Amino acid sequence: MYKVAILGYRVQGKSHHAPAFAKHPDCKIVAVCDMVEERARDGADTYRVPFYLDADEMLDKEKIDIVDVPTSEKYRFELVMNCLRRGKHVFTEKPLAGELRDPNVRPEHVAKARAMVDEWQKHDVAFGVCFGLHGDPNVRWAKQVIRNCEYGDLSTVLARCAVGSWNHLIDLCRFLAGDVDEVSAYANEGWRSRVAAVKFANGAVGTLVACADLALQYQIKWIARRGEVQIDDIGGTAWARSSSSYEYKVFNGQGSIEQGGYPALFTHHIAEFVDSIKEHRPFDADGWAGLRHMEIDAAISESILTGRPVKVDRYMPEKGRTIFSP
Ligand SMILES: NC(=O)c1ccc[n+]([C@@H]2O[C@H](COP(=O)([O-])OP(=O)(O)OC[C@H]3O[C@@H](n4cnc5c(N)ncnc54)[C@H](O)[C@@H]3O)[C@@H](O)[C@H]2O)c1
Repeated sequence: MYKVAILGYRVQGKSHHAPAFAKHPDCKIVAVCDMVEERARDGADTYRVPFYLDADEMLDKEKIDIVDVPTSEKYRFELVMNCLRRGKHVFTEKPLAGELRDPNVRPEHVAKARAMVDEWQKHDVAFGVCFGLHGDPNVRWAKQVIRNCEYGDLSTVLARCAVGSWNHLIDLCRFLAGDVDEVSAYANEGWRSRVAAVKFANGAVGTLVACADLALQYQIKWIARRGEVQIDDIGGTAWARSSSSYEYKVFNGQGSIEQGGYPALFTHHIAEFVDSIKEHRPFDADGWAGLRHMEIDAAISESILTGRPVKVDRYMPEKGRTIFSP
């Protein structure tokens, strides 16, 4: 049984992370910490565990295997570093670093994300990032179709999202289409809408658009030589089509999302994280995914600010020593 501590108990911690860990048959929440006493007490009452206002005190006193850190990006760095240094498995939120309500990802944010990955690489622990859409049944189905390679090599990605889902869109494009080498991007006033032309490392190209007025969360079309795969939103459908036979395959992930609601994404994603620890295997939304997302987003910000194409600076430290830090 993994002993889990919740560090940060407001929106994400209370509504999504803690319930998902509590549902996992191999996890037990043993402590809740929030620097706001009312929130810490609320979590402690819900799970009938001790509450703490100070993370160090909790980490010193409690026997903990996994620390869940759903604090906001501005306050995440020290907490995550501290837990990794203490050799705990860590699950945290995206983006790994940033300023509140500032869409511009700066070089210092990327430096913080790299420092987290560096620290993680020193320990035999799992480091997971809450890219909950990896838990979307449509995404999992599309990834499987793409992995099976029946449509050949990727040529183009067309992706769009509501502004609030921008970092999910970047992560999903990388998850489905691979690493990004270069970007050229524009934004309008206040960055309410953003568009980035991207060149993938595998030679494919694509466009990523975030639009303040979009009525859906996200949509991704993955186009290869002999066919295409499309995901139409959370709780929508995903479909694939061969360009030679025009044969359609439609997958409707809606049922499973409707059954569990939006939190079902987190339940599945966090269960995958815990199972990866149990089975001692990598997790697909790990610290690398968190870092690569930051590097791509930082290059997009720089391109918007300079009006020039920007190469994505992919950090390649010495490879980790454990299965968790591949
Ligand atoms: N993955 C997703 O789909 C998704 C969706 C929504 C939000 N988010 C992300 O989740 C993050 C958290 O969102 P939120 O709205 O719950 O944040 P929040 O800031 O409201 O809550 C964080 C809690 O952590 C506590 N906290 C902060 N520093 C602390 C410290 N040093 N010690 C103890 N407690 C501390 C705060 O008091 C607060 O209660 C954001 O970064 C956001 O981007 C992710």
